[in-house]
Amino acid sequence: MGSTNVGIIGYGWAATAHIAAINATRQGRVTAVWSSRPLDESELSARHGGPIRVYRELSAMLADPDIHVVDITSYPSQHREQAVAAANAKKHVILEKPMANTPEEVRDIVAAAEANGVRGCVCFECRYSNQFQVTKALIDEGLLGTIHYGEVDYYHGIGPWYGQYRWNTGKKDGGSALLTAGCHALDALLMLMGGEVEMVSSLSTKSSSPIFAPYEYDTSSVTLLHFKGGRIGKTAAIVDCLQPYYFHTHLVGSEGSLLDDRFHSMKLKADKGHWSRLSMKMLDSGDVSDHPYQAQFQAFFDALDAGQDMPLTSFREAARTFDVIFAADRSAAAGGQPVRLA
Ligand SMILES: NC(=O)c1ccc[n+]([C@@H]2O[C@H](COP(=O)([O-])OP(=O)(O)OC[C@H]3O[C@@H](n4cnc5c(N)ncnc54)[C@H](O)[C@@H]3O)[C@@H](O)[C@H]2O)c1
Repeated sequence: MGSTNVGIIGYGWAATAHIAAINATRQGRVTAVWSSRPLDESELSARHGGPIRVYRELSAMLADPDIHVVDITSYPSQHREQAVAAANAKKHVILEKPMANTPEEVRDIVAAAEANGVRGCVCFECRYSNQFQVTKALIDEGLLGTIHYGEVDYYHGIGPWYGQYRWNTGKKDGGSALLTAGCHALDALLMLMGGEVEMVSSLSTKSSSPIFAPYEYDTSSVTLLHFKGGRIGKTAAIVDCLQPYYFHTHLVGSEGSLLDDRFHSMKLKADKGHWSRLSMKMLDSGDVSDHPYQAQFQAFFDALDAGQDMPLTSFREAARTFDVIFAADRSAAAGGQPVRLA
């Protein structure tokens, strides 16, 4: 067991995957949980294989000097208040996506962390997935050349068969197709293409299926990204589809292309008429127990030990993705009018 003690806020689906992933890192161990519901301390400790204290008052957990990191897995509309309170209590913060559902809330979270000298980790864990780590390595090796067009799309029907449907259908916590789920795809596109986004335009709509009728917002959107220097990208965020989970990636560059786990590179002089295949673990499930949280939390705890911001998913880095998302949602609300990023 490690030496970085973590207190979890909220004990839902994401929390259970986080606890296993934190306890599997070299440093991390979950020693406390705060929940609005009464939880049995001994049952919880037995289930997760180590002593866990249950708090009913958040202020009491935040006041505990033995807790070094607070991990927020609550409803999105609670993220700002809890993240700011944790930062003010001088705790480092793990924060589930979305960071928050408004630009002002995201700004407050980043500002509170910086003012208090604490560091953040946003659960854009797909960046640490084998699929995107291998894809990024292929790009960094120059096998695609300069990517001038990229698309990463997210297709995952979030209907009544999915626990999150309970609160995700409301605008307050669900936010938008991008905020609630498509953010992973847009974030991956930004990681793979690099560079700065100058302008976005986005359109949104909704399935006519009665399954998705309770949603208070458009559950399908498509966003075009204009990068500084002229490169372009696209992200579809589709949470009202009836099909298997699918994370679609297509990158087109000056030396070749990549389509999910297939690629062609002129540099390898292979047959351009057929794809070459990459062996890697694909992101093909919405189940949190399949998500690469452990690798991400390991990188966060290593960065804390080194007194540095973590690579790939720090508050600053993730906030850049949310800037693009908020601009895209503004564009969609205005019927697709282009929105420039500040
Ligand atoms: N990074 C990812 O891929 C990923 C995956 C799943 C969830 N999430 C995020 O994690 C956060 C939590 O999502 P979740 O799927 O764990 O949701 P969840 O509904 O299981 O839990 C959400 C919150 O509700 C509480 N809760 C659950 N059941 C409750 C009940 N019966 N009564 C009172 N409170 C209850 C939980 O303790 C938690 O605070 C959200 O921000 C979500 O977007 C992210």
